[in-house]
Amino acid sequence: MARILITGGCGFIGSSLAFDLTSRGYQVTVVDNLSRRGSELNLSRLLAKGVEFANGDSRDPSSLEKLKETFACLVECSAEPSVLSAAVGDGARSLLDVNLLGALNSFEWARRRGVPVIFFSSSRVYPYDRLNACHYRETATRFEFVDGCPGVSPAGVSTGMPLDGIRSLYGASKLSAELILREYAAQYGLPAIISRCGVVAGPWQMARADQGIFTFWMARHYFRLPLQYIGFGGNGRQVRDLLHINDLTDLLARQVSALVERPSDFKGDIFNIGGSTRSSLSLCEATEICRRITGNEVAITSMMEDRPSDVIWYVSDNGPTGRAFGWEPKRSPEDILQDIFTWIKDNERLLREIFL
Ligand SMILES: NC(=O)c1ccc[n+]([C@@H]2O[C@H](COP(=O)([O-])OP(=O)(O)OC[C@H]3O[C@@H](n4cnc5c(N)ncnc54)[C@H](O)[C@@H]3O)[C@@H](O)[C@H]2O)c1
Repeated sequence: MARILITGGCGFIGSSLAFDLTSRGYQVTVVDNLSRRGSELNLSRLLAKGVEFANGDSRDPSSLEKLKETFACLVECSAEPSVLSAAVGDGARSLLDVNLLGALNSFEWARRRGVPVIFFSSSRVYPYDRLNACHYRETATRFEFVDGCPGVSPAGVSTGMPLDGIRSLYGASKLSAELILREYAAQYGLPAIISRCGVVAGPWQMARADQGIFTFWMARHYFRLPLQYIGFGGNGRQVRDLLHINDLTDLLARQVSALVERPSDFKGDIFNIGGSTRSSLSLCEATEICRRITGNEVAITSMMEDRPSDVIWYVSDNGPTGRAFGWEPKRSPEDILQDIFTWIKDNERLLREIFL
C-alpha cells in the first residue's frame, strides 16, 4: 500500500490522520519538531502503531531531503496554528518562518519528487473586517447571520467570498502559502488540494486558550477552572461551526485516496471544511453543554474588548466539498464535547500536565 508523508504529524490533526490512514492499510511517515506541547504524547502512540517518525523542522529543507522512501502523497500539517500568534509583540518573523517558509520548503520538496500535496489552510484566510461588517441578529444565546456580505449566506462562508481585507498575520501566512501552491500547480503541474479548515475539536487535541477553544472549554469545566467570554458584548454569543476530528479524517482519507488515484484531477482546488450549520454553536451554548456533561459549573467573567482578529460568526459552507468527496460531517457539538470529556476522564493523570 502507498506511503503517505505527514508534516506536523505528531500534532492534533496530523496524528489523527496518521492513525486513520494506518487503519486503512497505508504506510505512514510523520515529520515533526515536537514544538507543540503534548505532541510527544501523540508520538509514543504513533510509534506503537508502527508509524515511522523523523524528527525534523519544516524551516530546514534538509529535514525532508533526508527521507529515502517513495511517497504517494504529502499532507502538510506543520504550523503555528494560533490566530493570536504575532498578534502583539515580535512574533511575526517566527510565525512566517514556520507557516510560510516551512510550507514553501515542503512544496519545493514535493515538486522535485513529483509528490501530490494536501495543504492544510484555514478559514482565517477570509477577512475578519468583512465578516464583522455583515448584518447579524442577536438571539438569547448566539449571533445569527442575516445578510450583507458577498460570498456569505446563512449556509456559511463560501470559497467565493472576496478576499481583499484584513485577516491577521496567521491568516495572511496561510493565504500566501495557498497562492504559492496554486502557482506550483499551474506552472509545474504539481497535483494539489487546499483545505481551508474551520474549528476542529476532539480527543488528543492539546488545546490552549488561544487554540483549540472548544476542547479547552471542556477541559476547564472538567478541572473546574475559570473561563472568560471575550469581546462582542462579553456574553459568549460569538458562533463557530465545529467539526469532530473523526469527521475530518474521514474526509481527508477520501482526499488522499482521490489525489493518489487521480492526481491530474487536482490543480490546487480549494475546499472549505467545517461542521457547517448542522454543527454550529456559540460559546455560551458550549458552556451549557459542558455543564450538563461534567456536572460542573465554573466561574465565567466577561471582557468587553474584542480579541485581535476575532470574528463574530464563522460557519463553513462546505456543500461543494461534500459533493466532491461524497462526505458529510456526522457528529453534533454534543457528541464532540462528550468525546472530549470521555478522553480527559480516561487519561486524566496524563492530561493534568497539559491542562493544569
Ligand atoms: N485545529 C484546528 O482547529 C485547525 C483549524 C484550521 C486550520 N488548522 C491547520 O491545520 C494544521 C494542523 O493543526 P493542528 O490543530 O494539528 O495543530 P497542532 O499544533 O496540534 O499540530 C502542528 C504540529 O506541527 C508541529 N510543528 C510546528 N512547527 C513545526 C516545524 N517548524 N517543523 C516541524 N513540525 C512543526 C508541532 O510540533 C505540532 O505537532 C495547521 O496548519 C493549522 O494551521 C487547524
